Amino acid sequence: MEASRHISVAIDGPSGAGKSTLARAAAGQLNLIYVDTGAIYRTAALHLLRRGLEPGDAAAASLLPEIGIAIAHDGGGLQRMILNGEDVTGLIRTQEVSMAASAMSAHPAVRAFLLEMQRDMAKKHSVIMDGRDIGTVVLPDADVKIFLTAGSEARARRRWLELCQRGTPRDFDQLLRETRERDENDMNRAAAPLRPAADAVTLDTTEISFEESLARVIELIRGRTGL
Ligand code: DC
Repeated sequence: MEASRHISVAIDGPSGAGKSTLARAAAGQLNLIYVDTGAIYRTAALHLLRRGLEPGDAAAASLLPEIGIAIAHDGGGLQRMILNGEDVTGLIRTQEVSMAASAMSAHPAVRAFLLEMQRDMAKKHSVIMDGRDIGTVVLPDADVKIFLTAGSEARARRRWLELCQRGTPRDFDQLLRETRERDENDMNRAAAPLRPAADAVTLDTTEISFEESLARVIELIRGRTGL
């Protein structure tokens, strides 16, 4: 590999598989920039919700020109999302925004609108990027592709815990239904559906601890990039 070339690692998988926690930790250890592409979709969805539009609505695409999204990284490596000049990082993690982002991301026009921003990050930096279509569409030439998955119950439980810790608890059964609904949306849409790239390594985290998953991810990245 040429010394000057940026390294790119793609991590895809369903919601709650642990992509962001693992990607952030691996990025910290390997000195790569972590790019959370779900946050980009969430930021766009927040704008549509504020404008009173159903994100699944075909008219959603007509509002795209109003959406200016910027990504900033603070000192701790935390990705901050800026929507038309406003820092909305703390506002995009609600369940309402999760469902809206999933519905909205099925629009091909929305995906096309957000694609260049994602590719641009990988052109400028060595990145670990997580999402649904990073290895298949956004960075088809990524050096490492990991498809991270876990059973839907385990994923809903992780989401339940996260919301409890954030002080916004939700009913577990409802979360499980919504996890499965998001899987349905994300895997069955026509535009860039969630699926492993042909050359991705699948890692199922249902039965393994966070530490084991992280060790496996780091080993995979080191093995393929020489980092
Ligand atoms: O990763 P997340 O849960 O923050 O993503 C929110 C939604 O955004 C997800 O349900 C589907 C969509 N998304 C996508 O379609 N493609 C991506 N690369 C990232 C997210």
